[in-house]
Amino acid sequence: MFDFHYYTPTKVIFGRGAEGSVAALIREFGGSKVLVHYGGGSVVRTGLLKKTTDLLEAAGIPYVTLGGVVPNPRLSLVYEGIALCRKENVDFLLAVGGGSTIDSAKAIGYGAANEGDVWDFYDYKRKAAACLPIGVILTLAATGSEMSDSSVITREEGRIKRGYNSDLCRPKFAVMDPELTMTLPDYQTACGCADILMHTMERYFTNGGNMEITDALAEGLLRTVMRNAEILAEDPRNYDARAEVMWAGSLSHNGLTGCGSDGGDWMTHKLQHELGGLYDVAHGAGLTALWGSWARYVYRNCLPRFKRFALHVMGVEPAGSEEEIALKGIEAMEDFFRRIHMPTNLRELGVNATEEDLMTMAHKCAVGVGGAKGSARLLREEDMLAIYRAAL
Ligand code: NZQ
Ligand code: ZN
Repeated sequence: MFDFHYYTPTKVIFGRGAEGSVAALIREFGGSKVLVHYGGGSVVRTGLLKKTTDLLEAAGIPYVTLGGVVPNPRLSLVYEGIALCRKENVDFLLAVGGGSTIDSAKAIGYGAANEGDVWDFYDYKRKAAACLPIGVILTLAATGSEMSDSSVITREEGRIKRGYNSDLCRPKFAVMDPELTMTLPDYQTACGCADILMHTMERYFTNGGNMEITDALAEGLLRTVMRNAEILAEDPRNYDARAEVMWAGSLSHNGLTGCGSDGGDWMTHKLQHELGGLYDVAHGAGLTALWGSWARYVYRNCLPRFKRFALHVMGVEPAGSEEEIALKGIEAMEDFFRRIHMPTNLRELGVNATEEDLMTMAHKCAVGVGGAKGSARLLREEDMLAIYRAAL
């Protein structure tokens, strides 16, 4: 077991109609001029944006709006948001949407609160000293960005997708109404469930420091998300299943399922970020397209964890060698991904990558992680390339 810090400062307001408390929450956290940030229009169509701005107006809180965040959020809009915040003296950011909108708000928060180019933080050139306070109305259970310390931005030039982590950007509050996720296309619901699973699995497949309590929480979370993802595939308006998945999404990425471990593996995410940067694919789908190839490449180096996963999470019978049990667990997970209509290779993801593309992604990924990364198995550029090839 490793020592750890667990920091989750986000106030969570969860349940039907929770968005009604947004103005009071902004006041509670000192906001006096708000930038309402949102995506490509789903919140306009559902009426959530209007409802939100009406609430701000009724409470006498001045605001400006900035929409247009796209999945794999772009740096150019972040620059626009920073300029708008400075011009309008914004002191609070309200993200209304999914992970892309929240991440874009976090980047704007860094840019508005620090001098210089905000990309420097994502390029690991320097660290942020501050971030504007952020609140969230969540519309998609997936990334856990509503409680996480992470923000992932894509720079158009060179199509580089990078994450920056700092406690400074953890949202002050997250409003979570499961009903708001009922307008999601089935594909996005499934992508979200996949991402939630992966945030715990990245922390689970390690070679160091596991705690029984953390494993028990992690395994319970994984089983719960799988069960409810299958319910939602049949019955997307099931409130209880929406609620289970939404809360699991936050717990999966707020640090809880990693306490005591060595920090996790994270290579499926790192490999996926290159896919997202180059092909603009949905994050959760990119993860499932790569996971099986990653797992088969690394499982022998992390056999006790893969065996435990097979037995405790996937319900594999304890018969056969350790290796056979581990492989059955991997197969069972891929079967689950197929059942919720997620891809298990790049072809199914709709990516026809050339060998040159694979080499470019492996190279960028290796540079992005500083040469080598991974706890289940340490991966270098040649390993990354082998996994991309296996995923074709
Ligand atoms: O843009 P709009 O029109 O709002 O539509 C979005 C978007 O097209 C739509 N959507 C969201 N809520 C909806 C809805 N449509 C109908 N009804 C609703 N209630 O869903 C689409 C996807 O939205 P997006 O925010 O891109 O999805 P997600 O939440 O999966 O975020 C993905 C991004 O987060 C990053 C990913 O890399 C990716 O860029 N991640 C962020 C993390 C973090 N900050 O902690 C961790 C993750 O591992 C991940 O890397
Ligand atoms: Zn993720």
